[in-house]
Amino acid sequence: MYDVLVVGSANADLTVRVDRRPGAGETVLGTDLVESAGGKGANQAAAAARIGGRTALLARVGGDAYGELLLGAQRAAGTDVTPVIVDETARTGTAMIIVDPDGDNSIVVSPGANAALTPQDVAAAQDTIAASAVVSLQLEIPMESVRAAAAAAERAGTRVVLNPSPAPTAALAPELLAVADPLVVNEHEARQLSGLTDGTPAEWAQALRDRGARSVVVTLGGEGALVLDADGVSGVPGVRVKAVDTTGAGDAFTGALATRLARGDALPEAARFAVRVGAAAVTKPGAQPSYPTRAELEALAPEGSRG
Ligand code: RIB
Ligand code: NA
Repeated sequence: MYDVLVVGSANADLTVRVDRRPGAGETVLGTDLVESAGGKGANQAAAAARIGGRTALLARVGGDAYGELLLGAQRAAGTDVTPVIVDETARTGTAMIIVDPDGDNSIVVSPGANAALTPQDVAAAQDTIAASAVVSLQLEIPMESVRAAAAAAERAGTRVVLNPSPAPTAALAPELLAVADPLVVNEHEARQLSGLTDGTPAEWAQALRDRGARSVVVTLGGEGALVLDADGVSGVPGVRVKAVDTTGAGDAFTGALATRLARGDALPEAARFAVRVGAAAVTKPGAQPSYPTRAELEALAPEGSRG
């Protein structure tokens, strides 16, 4: 029924661009505030739907204007929002984001309704989980709900894509790691979760696979990605683009990866496609507003090109 069911967070992104980040106790002036659709879960779903994946989202939003904004963005992207729960007792999650002139960001998330997404909500979606080729997970909802979704997917024979972001302070539960196929990590998350203090992305990926992940993808920003699965390591070259705003580029990558895996791509092939989606996303402001359709993707420079 679905290529991808995303179980995760939805946030309104409140973004201001600054010339430089403020230090402690400091005030800086920024640009006008932009309110747009974000949240790591909702971002993955929007990315999957925009490229044509049959996509559904299980998330919680508040019964407020930001909740409406997020539902509208999902519908516009083509996501089935039937599983989304509108929680009249909670505020929609919000993310305070500052973006610097290089397009890099700093983000503070106030979870709001995301904190109320329970294992019971996940259990109620069991049939949708079973009817999906891939369930895509991140860590902006309660950990017990992430684990419930992973366990339900495992029982149903549904593939799990796990992006452990924001990076957890403690080690990932072994049974969570054991269903990740792949675990999608950036370099920071890869190093932290591998427990290695130095080393290379290939070594971190190997350590994570030794700890139980079925396969691992390390995203390398403009340098593409590294893939480790049963066939060994393969590198995916980056796509050189001018970075305007990297917010949500990793989520775009993961949503696209999940869609291609659901459609039957091998992992390196899916990662090659996802690198292009992530690159397209950094060329425009915001998270979801920057995600490409298939047609927009065609216009992007070919992989490995320098621009
Ligand atoms: O990964 C980017 C996302 O992180 C933003 O959209 C923000 O909402 C936070 O969840
Ligand atoms: Na962007």
